[in-house]
Amino acid sequence: MSAEPPADRAAHLRAELHRYEHLYYVLDRPEISDADYDKLMRELTELERAHPELVTPDSPTRRVGGAPREGFMQVRHSTAMLSLDNALDEAELREFDRRVADLLKGEPYQYCAELKLDGLSMSVRYRDSRFAQAVTRGDGETGEDVTENARTIRSLPLVIREGSSDFEVRGEVVMSNKAFQELNADQEAKGLQRYANPRNSAAGSLRVLDPSITAARKLDFYAYFLLVDGQPARDGHWDSLEELAAMGFKVNPERARCASVEELFAWTKKYEGQRDTLPYEIDGVVAKVDSIPQQKRLGWTSKAPRWAIAFKYPARQAETVLENIEVQVGRTGVLTPVAHLRPVTVSGVTVSRATLHNEDEIERLELAIGDTVVLERSGDVIPKVVRVERRGDPRTPFHMPKVCPVCGGAVVRAEGEVASRCIDSDCPARLKETIRHFASRGVMDIDGMGSTLVDQLVDKGMVKNVADVYALKVEELAALDRMGQKSAERILRGIEASRARPLPRVLNGLGIPFVGERTAQLLAEEFGSLDALMAADEDKLQKAQEVGPRVSSAIRAFFAAPRSQELVERLRAAGLVFTHDKPKREGSPLQGMTIVVTGTLPTLSREEAEALIESAGGKAGDSVSRKTSFLVAGEKAGSKLDKAQKLGIPVIDETELRRIATEGPAHVA
Ligand code: IVH
Repeated sequence: MSAEPPADRAAHLRAELHRYEHLYYVLDRPEISDADYDKLMRELTELERAHPELVTPDSPTRRVGGAPREGFMQVRHSTAMLSLDNALDEAELREFDRRVADLLKGEPYQYCAELKLDGLSMSVRYRDSRFAQAVTRGDGETGEDVTENARTIRSLPLVIREGSSDFEVRGEVVMSNKAFQELNADQEAKGLQRYANPRNSAAGSLRVLDPSITAARKLDFYAYFLLVDGQPARDGHWDSLEELAAMGFKVNPERARCASVEELFAWTKKYEGQRDTLPYEIDGVVAKVDSIPQQKRLGWTSKAPRWAIAFKYPARQAETVLENIEVQVGRTGVLTPVAHLRPVTVSGVTVSRATLHNEDEIERLELAIGDTVVLERSGDVIPKVVRVERRGDPRTPFHMPKVCPVCGGAVVRAEGEVASRCIDSDCPARLKETIRHFASRGVMDIDGMGSTLVDQLVDKGMVKNVADVYALKVEELAALDRMGQKSAERILRGIEASRARPLPRVLNGLGIPFVGERTAQLLAEEFGSLDALMAADEDKLQKAQEVGPRVSSAIRAFFAAPRSQELVERLRAAGLVFTHDKPKREGSPLQGMTIVVTGTLPTLSREEAEALIESAGGKAGDSVSRKTSFLVAGEKAGSKLDKAQKLGIPVIDETELRRIATEGPAHVA
């Protein structure tokens, strides 16, 4: 503990934590390790517990969410939160521009173009430079007071760094695609309903009565208006965005000033093409006349400003007919109903299948074969059936089979679970999926062991579990259909190379229920070896991060089975890696850096390069921005390389990546 008076120490800790939160959540440029951050947070929490009089509403400890409430208060907005007029194509955009030009009587003007994030808008008031109140848009005149929930959004500053002290910020609350997919996986694992898209899950997460739920949901807030006394605070919109960023708000870096409608249209097209690569969903572009005096002259209609327009991209939805429902058996035996659809294009991608998840989902949708359904691609690559548009005539109701469609074994749906499972662990469908998963790129990465080969190996009885893979011989492989000596040798080399994969991958490959990539990594770090993990009881297992009773009992059950023990021994004999060194976080070579990988590297796959970056303490980023520390470019590097060069971000190759991952970045000029 420190000798400082508690009040000073608390103030110091709060300031430090605010700074680190800004670096991490707003700028995506962390300066300290998670462990050090947690240490400071714990010190502040303890200090506040010992001296409750020191707790302030802007303390970062308050981000965890207070007590649940009965309902939300209604709050009137300072000025109405109106919406925007839409332009659905180039002609409508030009028409908007012509109206602006006419009303401004030939004066020059320019637009500020921003992405139209697909979330929900929120107004946040600050008093005395401190976060004071957050209100949803509601009907535009009045919204709901979601202050306690919004306080948990880490990218929303609780204290302002510089600038005005009493003001209002408006912006969009969004959930990233990654957070959305994680949330849905978690909902599914808990047997709860999945969210249809990131917007619904952002709205559902912000408008819950229990703020601790919001706190767990990883929401983000992007600011796009700064108002003082209900009025824009600067002369130009662009300048006010810059000011918001300087105040500590997250402002989307993807924005542009456009001097003509042509430039504006080109910008909308550019981002339409990149829609699938952004980390969040957008449904269009918002263009605002940049000059505030000009905005004032253009004024408002009763519904929307005349100085702004939303250029909308086509909805990623389409209608089609559900022709059949097929039931697939996954590697954990879960039976998944898959929709076979009349092929249809959804924003450029032809879709003929969609997962229906489980029996309850089909019931909830009141879905039957023959119905016309609405599909949506949103936040996820896999399309979803969102609703029945028209009932089919005739229509055939669906029932989950009582026996496994592959092996004819018993199907069981456990009490309180949504999933039905084939419980025969020798079911060929389960076995094939297990082997495919084991050999896949992110797991043991066995070069050449694709889906058709796995089918043959299982159908011919050559492989009955993952250990059998290591007993395969060249002659056996060469004798398979469409396989020559050369390919057989290549596969064997692939199998050989996979023996060196690190323990987290081996653990993931074993197919323990609920143990995927992340849990495998955490378990390997916690226990350091497979033997220590196998020896751990449930209490010990639950000491590992993110491991609860469900996961710990699945791990125990797996290792208690004699066949698993035999499997482990055979894998040990095959020379697989069974130990794991704890990663050094502090003082790691790439601490605090964000590195983006693009193009094809000579030897490392994308996943391996990213794993290398992370194991050296760095962060693997998806897109290039000013915050990127390095771009690792391989062959056929495209727009990311252009962007890095434009922004002056150092570009390195695989060899240099390997070097900085061990020796640190000082070695790159
Ligand atoms: S400006 C009066 N800028 O789109 C102007 N809106 O149809 C109001 N949105 O309700 C909005 N990104 O929820 C603006 N960069 C952006 C936006 C944005 C998303 C949403 C917002 C608004 C709706 C307008």
